[in-house]
Amino acid sequence: MKITIVGAGAVGASCAEYIAIKDFASEVVILDIKEGFAEGKAMDLMQTASLNGFDTKIVGVTNDYSKTAGSDIVVITSGIPRKPGMTREELIGINAGIVKSVSSSLVEHSPNTIIIVVSNPMDTMTYLVHKTSGLPKHRIIGMGGALDSARFKYRLAEALEAPISDVDGMVIGGHSDTGMIPLTRMATRNSIPVTEYISEERLNQVKEDTKVGGATLTKLLGTSAWYAPGAAVSGLVQAIACDQKKMFPCSVLLEGEYGLNDICIGAPVILGRNGIEKIVELNLTDAEKDHMANSADGVRKTNGLLEF
Ligand code: LAC
Repeated sequence: MKITIVGAGAVGASCAEYIAIKDFASEVVILDIKEGFAEGKAMDLMQTASLNGFDTKIVGVTNDYSKTAGSDIVVITSGIPRKPGMTREELIGINAGIVKSVSSSLVEHSPNTIIIVVSNPMDTMTYLVHKTSGLPKHRIIGMGGALDSARFKYRLAEALEAPISDVDGMVIGGHSDTGMIPLTRMATRNSIPVTEYISEERLNQVKEDTKVGGATLTKLLGTSAWYAPGAAVSGLVQAIACDQKKMFPCSVLLEGEYGLNDICIGAPVILGRNGIEKIVELNLTDAEKDHMANSADGVRKTNGLLEF
């Protein structure tokens, strides 16, 4: 199993580290445009192999896509990250050009690959890859919901004063501060709805804290987060590589599901060796359907800024 990660920045490197530590891939290629940077990250990570007990070979390359040839899964993290006060949508001008050229170089060398898009604005970048790469829809996946759901569970556990492993919950919709839909109605602690433990007011706070999860970190760190994004990507990569058939909310091209068409937005999917093996349609309430429609309007507005 060969995996390529484009972008050796904080998200790309932490993604490579988590994949290596889980030790399910034979090779991870990290590619970056900055001379020697990916090579350095790869060497540093390889020097953790004997300490962390993994055999995954990590290789760094400077902009040489021939070294990514035959990748089973590729992850695109390239582009500029958010600075404090910026929205993900403001990154579109620069990142669209980068994501388009990176995805076409990747597909040229790995025509059978599965692409995971991380670059922001993620739903729009995933849509751009759909429109320009020529890959079938089940092989294009946007990473957002897995991260947002992890942040939701963190906030739920905090409100419940419970360990995170007791908590389950999911965030669907667009990966933006206004577009995320934390499904509080379906969240549980040990199978019991969290609504039995948390007041409506506190639950609204959990929702709001979840939606600005990335922005809160950008403010604290001066740039966007990397540990949770890297861990979320590694979870998707492992589900595909190990054919786990796990369910994650991911940005996926909808063709009628949730009443939406011609848009990539977060919905639960089953991930296995073929990529997206199924889109799961949840039974949403009217209010949740309205949220999804509003979230889709936001994503479409950003998609409208794309030039193909
Ligand atoms: C975040 C970026 C990865 O939410 O979108 O941290």
